[in-house]
Amino acid sequence: MTSPLRIGVLGAGVMGAGIAQTLATSGHRAVCTDVSAEALEQGRREAVEGRFGIESAVGRGRLSREQADAAIARLEFTESFEEAAASDLVVECVPEKLDLKMQVFRELDRAAPEHAILASNSSGLPITALAQATGRPARVIGWHWASPAPVMRLAEIVVTPETDPEVRQAVCELAAGCGKNPIVVNDNPMAWGYVANRVYSAMIREANRVIKEGVATQEDVNQLMVDCFRWPTGPFGMVKGASGGWKK
Ligand SMILES: NC(=O)c1ccc[n+]([C@@H]2O[C@H](COP(=O)([O-])OP(=O)(O)OC[C@H]3O[C@@H](n4cnc5c(N)ncnc54)[C@H](O)[C@@H]3O)[C@@H](O)[C@H]2O)c1
Repeated sequence: MTSPLRIGVLGAGVMGAGIAQTLATSGHRAVCTDVSAEALEQGRREAVEGRFGIESAVGRGRLSREQADAAIARLEFTESFEEAAASDLVVECVPEKLDLKMQVFRELDRAAPEHAILASNSSGLPITALAQATGRPARVIGWHWASPAPVMRLAEIVVTPETDPEVRQAVCELAAGCGKNPIVVNDNPMAWGYVANRVYSAMIREANRVIKEGVATQEDVNQLMVDCFRWPTGPFGMVKGASGGWKK
């Protein structure tokens, strides 16, 4: 695939808006859609004016005024699913429900051009099931980002036995071009969470046990993990940020 690409993003929530912003600042045309007009407006605001948005990157000297204006011009929020689907690659960022994602992949398979790669930002659902919902399983892949998308380097690239190696290569190159660190992992349809979220879930389970046993408070668990491992926030801060976004 030759860069720059036209990339569709489905869902303008916490992840979709940040992913569309990152793709646009990396030189691609990003076309983001959502079933909710309110979510589209909120997503546009976050991408441009939010804490980790384009204007904030200008304020921190990360982008010049010229680069920011060019990125904003490449960033489109639209109510049209067909417009987002008419892309070289589509990143699906709808809620973490297997039925919904399978339905979306069926619709994408119908609407996207034959050459398009269909990627999912699922946190851990089987990519194999999404691939099987389409007539192009070799062009379906997992591309798991972390929140906030413009900042975090995670690019957990999830492949199935059917994923075309050229598709894997193209998505890894694209992720690296967005300043991310692509790591390829194998889909395991029997376990939710790929690698990052399986390990993360184990940590949350243990943190909850510690509190239940009366060993420490939630605040103290958070602080101990920050102090011990230099995490930017503790386990419970991570849960809050992932579900609600990272407001000031
Ligand atoms: N929040 C995180 O930290 C995080 C991190 C990595 C991956 N994820 C994954 O990313 C995906 C999205 O999570 P989120 O936190 O952005 O959720 P969110 O609820 O903030 O946003 C989801 C958006 O999808 C929209 N939507 C629903 N059905 C749709 C459809 N058919 N077409 C287009 N848009 C539709 C909703 O209106 C909503 O705005 C989930 O699979 C989640 O597990 C989340």
